[in-house]
Amino acid sequence: MMPPREFIMPAQMVIGSGAVEQVGAQCAKRGWRKALIVTDQIMQKLGIVGQVEQNLANHGIASVVYAGVNTEPVVEYVQEALASYHEGGCDVVVAVGGGSPIDTAKAVAVLVTNGGSIEQYKGIGKVANPGVPLVAIPTTAGTGSEATIYTVITDQKTDVKMLIGSPYLMPTIAIVDPMLTISSPPSVTAATGVDALVHAIEAYVSVKRQPMTDVLCLSAIELISSNIRQAWANGNNIEAREKMMLGATQAGIAFSNSSVALVHGMSRPIGAHFHIAHGVSNAALLAVVTEFSLVGDPKRYADIARAMGEPIEGLSLMEAADRAVVAIRRLVRDIKIPSLRQLGVARERLMELAPSMADAAIDSGSPANNPRKPTRQEIIELYAKAYDEGERMVG
Ligand SMILES: [Fe+2]
Repeated sequence: MMPPREFIMPAQMVIGSGAVEQVGAQCAKRGWRKALIVTDQIMQKLGIVGQVEQNLANHGIASVVYAGVNTEPVVEYVQEALASYHEGGCDVVVAVGGGSPIDTAKAVAVLVTNGGSIEQYKGIGKVANPGVPLVAIPTTAGTGSEATIYTVITDQKTDVKMLIGSPYLMPTIAIVDPMLTISSPPSVTAATGVDALVHAIEAYVSVKRQPMTDVLCLSAIELISSNIRQAWANGNNIEAREKMMLGATQAGIAFSNSSVALVHGMSRPIGAHFHIAHGVSNAALLAVVTEFSLVGDPKRYADIARAMGEPIEGLSLMEAADRAVVAIRRLVRDIKIPSLRQLGVARERLMELAPSMADAAIDSGSPANNPRKPTRQEIIELYAKAYDEGERMVG
């Protein structure tokens, strides 16, 4: 029996090199007149915001720019951007950037129609009304936020990363242009690319998986693991950038419909306490969490090993599943993801916080989607193992 499941995507996607040049035409044909562009200063300096503004203007659409999303998204940015939307008399939100501007823009779009402040909507399914139209233009191949029903906004008062999920947070249009990722530095390519890989792996093994996403997951795992090194080593490798972008978007659609699992559950509290890039904390956890989880569904992990290019013919099921861990360790090492210690995390401090981080992980609901459900104590031990693994790999 296959129970009925919802599968949600952006109403329209434009995917491919040069897609950004369609933003004005796409908005104009829907009758939108004035855009709030939510972005950061780097996108402004690179000229990508100017390019979007000009293209909108060419189609008769005026715009105002909020370029204040210069760290992970926090409540304050959402409020500031919302004020710009109202002051500007806007009727569409256009997000340009990595996950942070897109997540901020999603929160703005639903606050316009729902009122109040974003903390009220923490959790899943709390948003009552559809938001105003939202166009997401990602500039990293990573978060997949352009194609998900989630936004993560940090409450600075409590250092909690609030996960908010609602079908109304799905962008109306996703414009996925790999050329916008060419300027991503190697460290960003590595961290965001691993985040996307984790989305695909976790959606594939999630207990909430569904057949519609399996195919996207395997495609994304293959695209990302066979192109991330090339995109990292040479940012101008357009073919690698195209495949990474496609993989990241597929992975976004997949996890939005089938959920992430233990890696993300454990990763968010690390990010909230130590302010480490989301992809880097995911990378620190991925191998040890995979090793822990694979007995829960060895067949699926063997599929992952195969999609990552590991030769598994002739191996036993458990040997094949183990190859996924080998492939992940090698990938994380090859693209020089820094260890937690290199990023200034002291082991003592991590372990001091580990019990409350384990609670936060469990509260997020993500560990419950894992093929092997961890106890609180096991999560605490996995934090220690992840730290020590990083030490061994990169020092
Ligand atoms: Fe993620």
